[in-house]
Amino acid sequence: MLVVDKLTRRFGANTAVDSASFSVDRPMMIGIIGASGAGKSTFLRMMNRLTDASEGVLRFEGRDVLTLKGRDKRRWQSNCAMIFQQFNLVPRMDVVSNVLHGALARRPVIGTLFNLYPRDDIHRAIDILDRLGIAGHAAKRAEALSGGQQQRVAIARALMQDPKVILADEPIASLDPMNAQIVMEALRRIHDEDGRMVIANLHTLDTARRYCDRVIGMRLGRIVFDGTPEQLTTGVARDIYGAGADFSEDATSTEIRDPAAVARTEIRQARVSV
Ligand SMILES: Nc1ncnc2c1ncn2[C@@H]1O[C@H](COP(=O)(O)OP(=O)(O)OP(=O)(O)O)[C@@H](O)[C@H]1O
Ligand SMILES: [Mg+2]
Repeated sequence: MLVVDKLTRRFGANTAVDSASFSVDRPMMIGIIGASGAGKSTFLRMMNRLTDASEGVLRFEGRDVLTLKGRDKRRWQSNCAMIFQQFNLVPRMDVVSNVLHGALARRPVIGTLFNLYPRDDIHRAIDILDRLGIAGHAAKRAEALSGGQQQRVAIARALMQDPKVILADEPIASLDPMNAQIVMEALRRIHDEDGRMVIANLHTLDTARRYCDRVIGMRLGRIVFDGTPEQLTTGVARDIYGAGADFSEDATSTEIRDPAAVARTEIRQARVSV
């Protein structure tokens, strides 16, 4: 289904993604982990053609994604929707209009200019919001919602594109543990129920273990681990993060704990990222 072969991206002398190869034969839920600067975002950005690869091949269902141009490229981008850490909603616009933006790629320009949406699209947007448990907020401005709710709006906007793949770049990094759980469960449900592939960059090990079928570990642009959550032992994690013997799994955990413990974790997390 997805073949990544020696995919490389250089920025000057710096190799952000270094000859990454893996393949996926069915729509899995995949977590990509690794320290800050490991190349996780660059990989996702190459996959949906926000950034060009320097070398290598990326094939999805037999199609060479990296050479797509014009309309074919836009169609691919709509087929692999992206979700970001900062939600990227239009804050002052109402929730349902934000979601309808996801259907823009499929609409004629004239409708877009006058903010006219076909009735079917509006119904579909509400249905998707309902599925994510936030239909009650449809008429509110996006900025009036909590972070977890806003991220679910962003997921709804992605689903509006009816994508085959959902790429999520640290989708829960700005959320508290409770909202992080709700958002990860929503992504997992979308994968289970719709059979969409989900590839999520995650900064915590327990999230990758808990929600993903497969985990890819990156270090300095290279894939240094590719396996099941069970194979992702503390020793393996230490290698991925390039940490020393004092590496603590708590530093990469989103478990719900008391606020003081969470603050301590954040401080340690910052250290792991350096
Ligand atoms: N547009 C760019 N120009 C120059 N260098 C870049 C650019 N984008 C990324 N890089 C570099 O590529 C490397 C990988 O960056 P990337 O953002 O992919 O890492 P990441 O794993 O997503 O990190 P984080 O966990 O901090 O988000 C880093 O060294 C970064 O500085
Ligand atoms: Mg990143």
